[in-house]
Amino acid sequence: MAQAAAVGALLGASTAFLAPSAAPAPAPALRGAPHSSRDSTGPGLAGAAGVGAAALGLGLLAARPAATACRAAAVKKKGVKVVHGKEIPWNLFSPKAPYQGKVVENDVHKQTLTEPTGDANWETTHVTFDHGGKVPYIEGQSIGGSGFAVMKGEQPAKIRLYSIASSAVGDDQTSKTVSLCVKRVVEVDGKFANRQKGEDKPDKAGTAYPENQVYRGVCSNHICDMTPGDEVLITGPTGAEMLLPEDPEANIIMLATGTGIAPMRSYLRLLFHDKAGASSDGGRKFKGKAWLFMGVPYSKSLLYDDEHQTYKKAFPDQFRYDYAVSREQKNAAGQKMYIQTKMAEYAEELWEMMQDEKTHVYMCGLKGMESGMAECFGPIAEKNGLVWAEFAKAMKKADRYHVEVY
Ligand SMILES: Cc1cc2nc3c(=O)[nH]c(=O)nc-3n(C[C@H](O)[C@H](O)[C@H](O)COP(=O)(O)OP(=O)(O)OC[C@H]3O[C@@H](n4cnc5c(N)ncnc54)[C@H](O)[C@@H]3O)c2cc1C
Ligand SMILES: NC(=O)c1ccc[n+]([C@@H]2O[C@H](COP(=O)([O-])OP(=O)(O)OC[C@H]3O[C@@H](n4cnc5c(N)ncnc54)[C@H](OP(=O)(O)O)[C@@H]3O)[C@@H](O)[C@H]2O)c1
Repeated sequence: MAQAAAVGALLGASTAFLAPSAAPAPAPALRGAPHSSRDSTGPGLAGAAGVGAAALGLGLLAARPAATACRAAAVKKKGVKVVHGKEIPWNLFSPKAPYQGKVVENDVHKQTLTEPTGDANWETTHVTFDHGGKVPYIEGQSIGGSGFAVMKGEQPAKIRLYSIASSAVGDDQTSKTVSLCVKRVVEVDGKFANRQKGEDKPDKAGTAYPENQVYRGVCSNHICDMTPGDEVLITGPTGAEMLLPEDPEANIIMLATGTGIAPMRSYLRLLFHDKAGASSDGGRKFKGKAWLFMGVPYSKSLLYDDEHQTYKKAFPDQFRYDYAVSREQKNAAGQKMYIQTKMAEYAEELWEMMQDEKTHVYMCGLKGMESGMAECFGPIAEKNGLVWAEFAKAMKKADRYHVEVY
């Protein structure tokens, strides 16, 4: 089978993801080195030309903007895409021929990450699938562009995309699992309904609205209700917009709203947690600075806060972490605390960082974040005789401003 051959080729020659092609990589690169081509490393950060966050897509492949297409060369081999001269895994599994994986027990995070807030859509889950090593992906890649299919009767439902929340080696560091961070879509008495009054039953988290008309998102509810052993159909991986830089001295500014944290978690696992990111001197291969800004509605909706606090404690000189809790915090002017409101507190410092060619900005989540950046950095750009939109465009052109918003 062509797919099996492609996977075999990727696994058998996984150094394809690790080895730079023409230009020599600055050493030691962020990931890859001490692992054999078939072991837990999987495709590597270092190799994949700054291959970063991946998104696992359950779907709607057609809805994915083609932004990455112009940044990557044409696909030369099945299951592989060449990005900046390096090969990365690419659509090994299609909606017509998805990989059949299983939900696995996950001892890193137990399913639901958030606590009830009173909102119908309060629940966000962390779910892990076993892919048997057959769906290699890299951080910040959107296997996100990759997807799972949910069966609707005999037919697969439309595929939805989900950003991959685990690093390439997976939460268990075997390179055989992939994790997602999925928000359960529940809308009560809204414009659409797929449950009439009296029909809504308690979901796995115990939430139900039997007195109301309810719309439950098809894929998100399917995923959030899964239990270990359940089968899942996976497509992808895909996505080349959110790849990490190869330079271990790069600085990484991460801006996430809600589940937009998924690719950032993938990066942070590699930078500060995984064996694949450890250097031979007992430190980390990553030598730069990482700064995460996360925006959520309630403190009960903070995602992976435990992990962020751990990194902050263990790497105080390298990792900074700030969050904006929109419905609980306000700034000094009494404005709602959005991510850009929080960043404005550090505008000078962030602006300085962005002048450094080694600094990359990653943005994932709600579309409104992009105009938020303009609000935040417009004034300081102007003070420096620049126009933010042009500065941002130049950063994008230099592959230093990575945006995946929806
Ligand atoms: C690149 C990418 C990465 C993503 N990553 C993540 C991620 O990491 N985590 C995450 O949780 N999500 C992510 N998403 C969003 C995800 O793909 C899904 O869109 C989301 O989970 C909702 O899917 P669903 O099937 O549950 O909802 P759906 O059933 O598709 O419903 C979605 C919306 O459609 C509306 N709707 C229902 N019927 C109609 C109709 N007839 N006409 C018009 N609208 C209608 C509903 O009101 C609802 O608001 C990502 C999206 C993209 C594009
Ligand atoms: N790769 C991708 O493209 C990708 C990956 C993951 C997720 N996503 C998308 O990201 C979105 C995340 O939604 P979510 O439901 O998980 O998030 P959420 O939990 O609702 O959190 C979003 C936060 O952003 C705030 N916000 C609203 N408008 C904003 C604006 N203009 N600027 C800055 N912040 C703003 C919200 O504040 P208030 O609600 O209080 O106004 C809230 O605090 C989804 O649409 C998902 O599809 C995309």
